This record gives sequence, C-alpha cells and structure tokens, in this order.
Amino acid sequence: MSNKHISVLLEEAINSLNLKEDGIYVDATLGYAGHSSKILEKVKRGYLFAFDQDSEAIRLSTDRLNSIGTNFTIIRSNFKNIKEELNKLDIEKVDGILFDLGVSSPELDEAERGFSFHKDARLDMRMDTSGEFSAYELVNTYSYEQLREIFYKYGEDKYSPNIAKKIIKYRENKPIETTLELVEIIKSAVPIKERLKKHPARQIFQAIRIEVNDELNVLQEALKQSSELLKVGGRIVVITFHSLEDRIVKKYFNELSKVDDIIKGLPNINEDLLPDFKVVNNKPIIPTNDEIEENPRSRSAKMRILERVKWGEIMSSKKRKTKKKKFTFNKFFVLIAFFGISFAITRVSLTAYLSKINYDVEIEKKLIVEQKKTNESLTMAINELASLAKIEEVAQDEGLRYNNKNIKTIKDQS
Ligand SMILES: C[S@@+](CC[C@H](N)C(=O)[O-])C[C@H]1O[C@@H](n2cnc3c(N)ncnc32)[C@H](O)[C@@H]1O
Repeated sequence: MSNKHISVLLEEAINSLNLKEDGIYVDATLGYAGHSSKILEKVKRGYLFAFDQDSEAIRLSTDRLNSIGTNFTIIRSNFKNIKEELNKLDIEKVDGILFDLGVSSPELDEAERGFSFHKDARLDMRMDTSGEFSAYELVNTYSYEQLREIFYKYGEDKYSPNIAKKIIKYRENKPIETTLELVEIIKSAVPIKERLKKHPARQIFQAIRIEVNDELNVLQEALKQSSELLKVGGRIVVITFHSLEDRIVKKYFNELSKVDDIIKGLPNINEDLLPDFKVVNNKPIIPTNDEIEENPRSRSAKMRILERVKWGEIMSSKKRKTKKKKFTFNKFFVLIAFFGISFAITRVSLTAYLSKINYDVEIEKKLIVEQKKTNESLTMAINELASLAKIEEVAQDEGLRYNNKNIKTIKDQS
C-alpha cells in the first residue's frame, strides 16, 4: 500500500462499539480495513459485514482481513443500501455499525482520483468510479446559481458568488478539465490576504465532492436504516470530518433519543413513552493532541455514539410528535364533542323553550283570532239586536201610527 491510511480514533471507536465475541457487526466504510481488522480480531465467533463503494479499497482490504479470519463478507455497495444488502443475506438485526466517513488517505493522495487540490489530475472525485457523474460534469454544466448554491451550502465559502462567476466566465472559452486549472480559477476569485489564511480551494473542493457523491443525503438515509437494524444494546458509532456531517449525526441522534417535553418532568414515566435510543456521549469524542500530531488529517474528526436501549416501535421524535399531535388531536376531539353535546343540549332546551314561547304566541294568536271572532260575533249580535230594536222601534212607531189611524177611523166612524 503506497499511501497508507492511518485509522482515526481507532481505539476509541472499537471500545465504543462494545464488541461481543459472537456479535454481528457492520463496518459501513471499510476503506483500508483499519477498523475492520480490529473488529475481526475481537469478534472471533461472530461476523463482520464491511461496505465500501471503492473497488480499489476493497481489493487491498480483502487480503488484510483474510489474514485475520474468514468470518466476514465485503459488500461493494454504497452504504445507503445497508439494510437492503444485509437483508439480502438474511441479516435483519446487528450488534453494531461503524461509519468512518469521507475519503481515505489513498483516495485523497492518488492524484488520478481528482480529490486533491495539490495534485494535478482530471476532475473526478467519484468514490464509486462506476458512477457517471463526476466533478468534471458538475463544474462544466452547473449554472451560476447552482454552483453558487453548492459552494455556499457545502463549502460555506463567502466567496462563492465570485468563484461561481469566474468558473462561468472561464467556461466560455473552454471546459475546465483538471484540478489545478480549477484551483487557479478559484484563486483568481479570492483576495490575496484570504489566500494566505487557508488554501482557497479547500472548501470548494469539499463542496464539489459532497455534491458529486451526494454525501449528506446518503448519510441521512444510512443513519435511518442503521437505527432500524440495531439490536437492543447495539450501537452506531459515527466519525465525521466536517461540521455539515456532524450536524446531521448530532441532530438525528438527538431526535431518536429525545424524551418528549410533555412527559419530561413526570416522576413515573411509562416505559413505552421513553425513547428507544440513548446518546452515549453528549459531547463528541475528538482525537488527542498526540493523535493529531501523528496524523494531522484527524484534526477535524468528531465521534458520536448512539445506543438502542429497548426494542419498541422505531419511532423518531418526529413520529412521537405526531403521536403527541394525535393525543392533542384526540383531546381536541373530546373538546369538540363536549362542546358539541353542550351545544346540542342547549339547542334542544332552547328549541323547547322557544317552541313553548311559540306555543304561547300561537295560543295568543288563536285567542286574538277567537277574540276577534267573538268581537265580530258580538258586533254582529249587537247589530242584530240593534236592527231588531230598530225594527221594534219602527214597528212601534208603525203600531202607534196604525193604532192612531184606527182610533182616528173609529173616532171618525163614531
Ligand atoms: C475514511 S475511509 C475509512 C477508513 C477505514 N475506517 C480504515 O480505518 O481503514 C472511508 C471509506 O468509506 C468509503 N465510503 C465513503 N462513503 C461511502 C458510501 N456512501 N458508501 C460506501 N462506502 C463509502 C470510501 O470509499 C472510503 O474507502
């Protein structure tokens, strides 16, 4: 091995895995088998599955592991397929999974892989050399906006717009073909005083590598699957090399191990409501000064550990939040039902009351009508009586007149 890879946080990572002699372990990033060799040495009656997407790393590691034991299988695949690949081999649960992220020293140092901003090579940066999308395609086809965005997002470089602009301008004449061509373009976009502080291409090369290998999405997916593969007592150990990766790991581990605020302060918490995982180290484990001195590439390393403490439903805090929401939702329903029933009762009473009022009103109306009718009848009766009286009066008058007439006639006759 010309460019030897020195494993980072080797002892710390192996101790953190809590290896059992008969356990099943996964090294998601075999590399040059530094960690895998140690695992295999300790897991005499168990088994090791090791993943890498780099065929050169696999070729060199196979011999190394063969010299230790035969209880291992190397899987050439992106670790984003960790669950599917293990399931294919009838492995449903494992005792521990290690991720030692990024690229290995040989990958970085071999100029032709195109990862290094110190060595001239065709722009590449693919970890999986069978992939079709490389740094060359990215640098020569992405728009100004796309370039600026990935430089900002994955490189956190404040000169991103200027660098993107220079790349677009350069491309007007010819494609950018090599790493050092790109380094010169980047340098031309960054003020000299900034260039003296750190290599101006470091962050931009990191950004391009992350995008070419879709590293952050792949990590997120692999962590999720790994948590589903873990037995009780099993651990996921992750070594990261930049803040973007570390943030993802920290956030996901915290999410899985978070005790809901709603139950946090309670004296007796039902086991079911507690998370299935715990974060073993709140602060990340970092290399000692001695390690950094011996291996400067380890200086940015951070290691985080997650342990499965019980086997419940795989439930991220997001899902638990949904459950909480459901709970709140149920409470909401009870409230709605309560108000609904109260409303119904009130409405029934009100209707009864109103209908009573209506009833009274109706009666009143009827009474008025009856009264009217009575009045009318009375009036009619009075009128009748009046006309009768009139008739009588007239009759009396007529009678008188008749009588008088008769008297007169009698008088005349006499
Ligand atoms: C830092 S090295 C691991 C070194 C190893 N732990 C050792 O001690 O020798 C990272 C390795 O993981 C591989 N790798 C990175 N991302 C990967 C992915 N998504 N899927 C599979 N392998 C990956 C790289 O190809 C590289 O060989």
